[in-house]
Amino acid sequence: MVSATIHRKVRRPFTLSNGQLIPSGVTIEIPSICVNHDAGNFSDPDEFDALRFYNIVQQYQDEKTGSYGPISNTEFSAAESRTLLFGYGRHACPGRFLASAEIKMILGNILTEYEIKLPAGVMKRYKDLCFGPYVGILFNS
Ligand code: HEM
Repeated sequence: MVSATIHRKVRRPFTLSNGQLIPSGVTIEIPSICVNHDAGNFSDPDEFDALRFYNIVQQYQDEKTGSYGPISNTEFSAAESRTLLFGYGRHACPGRFLASAEIKMILGNILTEYEIKLPAGVMKRYKDLCFGPYVGILFNS
């Protein structure tokens, strides 16, 4: 999970609609983790649900044709207002489709080539890891 994306250096001062002045020279960013963990966007957002997006996608499947409808925010490579992992708008990550394909290949390789299990006696998943302020996996720990 990425805690913040869309970092921008402010070149000209501007004022937000709430009156807060953003001076030039500062770096601003979007707290994407808050957007991804907003219950208005995803139900039970702090619960790990491996099938979360799979189940959302199923709701959009057309019974007759088997095709899927408007599911842009459920795709791993989505860059839209509710899923900001890859940024948003004109500068959204252009490598996200490659990243998506690579990750699928890596996971496929791990699943087919390795036997994976928890250490003897361990019944729960390991504690979440946190890598500094940019990438933080902080929930459910
Ligand atoms: C899981 C892997 C990746 C993540 C999470 C990721 C995430 C991001 C994010 C958050 C941005 C900033 C978007 C913004 O500021 O609005 C970005 C930009 C960018 N990414 Fe990625 N990225 C990934 C993989 C890749 C790969 C594999 C490539 C190239 C092969 C790539 C190339 C770029 C480039 C060139 C930009 C700058 C786009 C611009 O400023 O117009 N990324 N990425």
